[in-house]
Amino acid sequence: MAEQHILKRTHMCGELRQSEIGRTVSLNGWVQKQRNLGGLIFVDLRDKSGLVQIVFDEDVPEELFQEADHLRSEFVIGVSGVVREREAKNPQMATGDIEVLADRLVVYSAAETPPIYIKDDDEANENLRLKYRFLDLRKPKMQSNLAFRHRLAQITRAFFDQEGFIDIETPFLIKPTPEGARDYLVPSRVNQGRFYALPQSPQMFKQILMAAGFDRYYQIVKCFRDEDLRADRQMEFTQIDIEMSFVEMDEVLEVQERFLQKLFRETLDVEVALPLPRLTYDEAMARYGSDKPDIRFGFELVDLSEKLAGSAFPVFADAAATGGSSVRAIRIDGADPSFSRKDIDKMQEAIRVFGAKGLAWLRVREGELTSSFNKFYDQAGLSEIAGWMDAKAGDLILFVAGPDNIVFDSLGFLRRDLAGKLGLLDDSVYSLLWVIDFPLLEYDEEAGRYTAMHHPFTAPRAEDIPLLDTDPGKVKAKAYDIVLNGVELGGGSIRIHDRDLQKKMFSALGLSDEEAENQFGFLLEAFKYGVPPHGGIAYGFDRIAMLLAHEKSIREVIAFPKNQAALCLMSGAPAEATADQLTELGIRIEAETGTDEVEPDVSSHEG
Ligand code: AMO
Ligand code: AMP
Repeated sequence: MAEQHILKRTHMCGELRQSEIGRTVSLNGWVQKQRNLGGLIFVDLRDKSGLVQIVFDEDVPEELFQEADHLRSEFVIGVSGVVREREAKNPQMATGDIEVLADRLVVYSAAETPPIYIKDDDEANENLRLKYRFLDLRKPKMQSNLAFRHRLAQITRAFFDQEGFIDIETPFLIKPTPEGARDYLVPSRVNQGRFYALPQSPQMFKQILMAAGFDRYYQIVKCFRDEDLRADRQMEFTQIDIEMSFVEMDEVLEVQERFLQKLFRETLDVEVALPLPRLTYDEAMARYGSDKPDIRFGFELVDLSEKLAGSAFPVFADAAATGGSSVRAIRIDGADPSFSRKDIDKMQEAIRVFGAKGLAWLRVREGELTSSFNKFYDQAGLSEIAGWMDAKAGDLILFVAGPDNIVFDSLGFLRRDLAGKLGLLDDSVYSLLWVIDFPLLEYDEEAGRYTAMHHPFTAPRAEDIPLLDTDPGKVKAKAYDIVLNGVELGGGSIRIHDRDLQKKMFSALGLSDEEAENQFGFLLEAFKYGVPPHGGIAYGFDRIAMLLAHEKSIREVIAFPKNQAALCLMSGAPAEATADQLTELGIRIEAETGTDEVEPDVSSHEG
């Protein structure tokens, strides 16, 4: 093939304006679309900066006109020509005042008809988009999302660099740890029968960097967790990971608040007021039913257990009388006429996943109160309950009775779900807050033991240390989460830096000395030789990008994400290994595992 001449670009397509009229320009890009109107051929040419209209008229040589006639969507071409004012201007287009009258065309490559349209609202289903990600990424929105993500990374690096943090890489092939989410295992060829794990986070390594005297560390780093995927979760995701020495919680939070302020200012021109509000975990649960509350709207939970203790309605009375259970309610003001009986039935169905046995309701209308527990109350009784909730005409009160965790999960879900349905989730409002004083441990019924709510290296509050022996569930941690509009952006803690306390923690988690030594021995060993008090935090970088780009899923801000079934539809990962590879690793596959049933539908467009 003859060597192709590459046109030296003078401008990007999207930046041409009237000021360029009369100039000869050279552009490179993709054909968005081509129209032949007989004597005129129009081509919309696209590059990462946007679109510009190119015209081939009958004055160009016949050969060139023919070549332009053969252009199709997604051909990659170079064009030279003179910028001129358009007769029919297009105010929808940034370059709509001008067009380029072509006198030269180079076709770099042809393209088959693409299976998805290269436009933001192409309506292709997500699996189809992910299979043809190389096309999907050409869309203006994907281009701007990834450029935005890059900006976030640059601002992050600039901030932490300026504050004296240094970027140190930590290993991706590490020792497996059974704690927490599931590890991805990587077999060792050189040491057959042994496995590395991909890190769920650099936690232990960053603590060792503190013991090594680096004082302030940060890294924008991939983490790997074998968990079920959701809109805000991927199996491989990115953290902004941070650790500092000689600090208490207030200093960590103060640095992070300035970071967040800079991030919002420089990306969205939004001024975040500091200091950020702080809620204790207990208060967040009591008021919002969630440890990552969305505080952009009200609908706060009210504990009615005392008031309903003697209720004639057994559902209420029983929960009120049971330890660890309660009756709580939320008042949806202005619910009328938005929610019908059928809607309430759907809500009741929706909260079954949390274990809720039902959803009681009370509707307040002018001169009439109705409820799902009418047979136990007269109008005066219902009116008294409405009074406790400060309800007025048009309001709907929703009650859940049962174990506290079920009540919190159910009402926490409903308040946000209904706020969404009522259009109260304004995404130009950014409600950042800290949730602090988390419990150190939570009881795992299935395992019959306590597990770390954050991770085993989080320090308990000093005054609670004695409780570790007597009432571990009551111990509060020096842990904090940063929450934005109901999403956990990040979390961290002050760490244990005392070997004995760390051992005590392992034993509270039900680990024998031997197990602790086996799993975390290197950290305990490092702590023998002098370790500063330290603490830190990690943000979900994808989640920050998602929220600031106003996306609903982190997949929209990740170039090559896995789909909901943990597949990379573009490359076909995961795939079977060859017999030779397995032999070399000393691995034998016991059962045939079919992958057929996980093949997703990538054939159709969604309406
Ligand atoms: P944690 O486990 O809370 O803390 O993780 C920190 C943040 O990472 C994000 N995140 C995820 N994002 C996308 N997909 C996932 N599967 C996923 N899992 C977590 C969340 C979360 O808040 N080492 C500690 C931090 C520390 O103590 O310094 C840690 O990893 O936004
Ligand atoms: P029932 O006792 O089945 O007639 O239910 C009466 C009302 O109480 C219905 O609206 C149920 O949804 C509701 N209900 C039942 N269990 C609960 C519960 N644990 N919390 C709140 N409402 C409940």
